[in-house]
Amino acid sequence: MNQTKTKIAGIGFYVPDKVVKNDDLKEVIETTDEWIQERTGIKERRYIERYKENTTTMAVNASKIALERASIAADDVDFIIFATLSPDYYFPGCGVLLQRELGIKNNCGALDIRNQCSAFIYAISIADQFIKTGMYKNILVVGSETHSAGLDFSNKGRNVSVIFGDGAGAVVLQPTTKENQGILSTHLHAEGLHAEKLAFLHLGAHSGVFTGDTSDFESSGEWGSLFVTKEMIENGTAFPYMDGPFVFKNAVFRFPQVIMEALNANNKNVSDINMLIPHQANLRIAQFIQEKMGLRDDQVYNNIQKYGNTTAASVPIALCEAWELGKIKEGDLVCLAAFGSGFTWGSALLQW
Ligand code: COA
Repeated sequence: MNQTKTKIAGIGFYVPDKVVKNDDLKEVIETTDEWIQERTGIKERRYIERYKENTTTMAVNASKIALERASIAADDVDFIIFATLSPDYYFPGCGVLLQRELGIKNNCGALDIRNQCSAFIYAISIADQFIKTGMYKNILVVGSETHSAGLDFSNKGRNVSVIFGDGAGAVVLQPTTKENQGILSTHLHAEGLHAEKLAFLHLGAHSGVFTGDTSDFESSGEWGSLFVTKEMIENGTAFPYMDGPFVFKNAVFRFPQVIMEALNANNKNVSDINMLIPHQANLRIAQFIQEKMGLRDDQVYNNIQKYGNTTAASVPIALCEAWELGKIKEGDLVCLAAFGSGFTWGSALLQW
């Protein structure tokens, strides 16, 4: 009998209706459509409708599509893995909120993971282990992000705020013994040395005034420094920080490295890849990887132009859209790869 592997049995994504074009951002920050497109490839992104949608509601919408496509009921899910850096509450995580909203009974476990842009790769790697060992049969993995609620819409934060968008993607993972189907391997890495190069430091026990250099840390108080202070909001430090050029340099090095690691582990070549879905960080990063690895246009799918960078949601959204467009077919060799805050990065090689 063939070895048990993990297959994607159903996939779905949801993005909010509200389209925010580059020119719309000019209402709040000094920027231009040309600057954003030239540096990132982004033309527009989606933002939630405040107070009507959030990270969990988007995850519910994406999950319902994935469950339907997998032909299972919500109650068949025996484990949820929820990947987000923008949870609705500081705690508990969104996993239990998704379980509640889908009406799943308590025979299902729920795990939240915080691995930012590479979170979806980490999440399917965890799910793969549970499925291969026979512990679970239906795992719902979701990446969902609400960036629009936490960005710095002043000129100080414009290098970050123009990049990110809201959205969610979900997959149902199940065991398979079919030949030429399922996850072949996953590869995960971390380098905490650069943790503060792309970070949102507040609401953490080290909350303080951050200027981009860890030696500049000052505690915001001896007691109760867990929360954002008025001062942090006023001086603009209560927002995500990114050293863009440093992140860019590391990303273009790590992406090809971890994709090659996946190919080498399975005795495959770049030419064997039918579809590469890179995390949608920046179109320039994806183009750099494509050129460096000698991939043809039809071997790579990008949709950052429409949705911006949706961190944990970007890989499942792009994977789902590529599949819906008929660009991924049964048996195809698909490579997923991501790099982001942490730094963490990873890849997954699978046969569709
Ligand atoms: N509109 C107009 N001008 C802007 C701007 C914006 N939205 N954001 C920054 N600028 C300005 C800066 O103020 C700076 O002006 P100055 O030269 O007068 O000081 C200039 O543009 C260059 O800023 P810099 O931050 O050095 O830009 P960059 O060329 O590095 O591009 C990024 C910025 C963010 C697009 C780029 O660094 C990048 O893509 N990095 C990787 C980010 C990424 O992918 N993150 C996701 C991680 S997974």
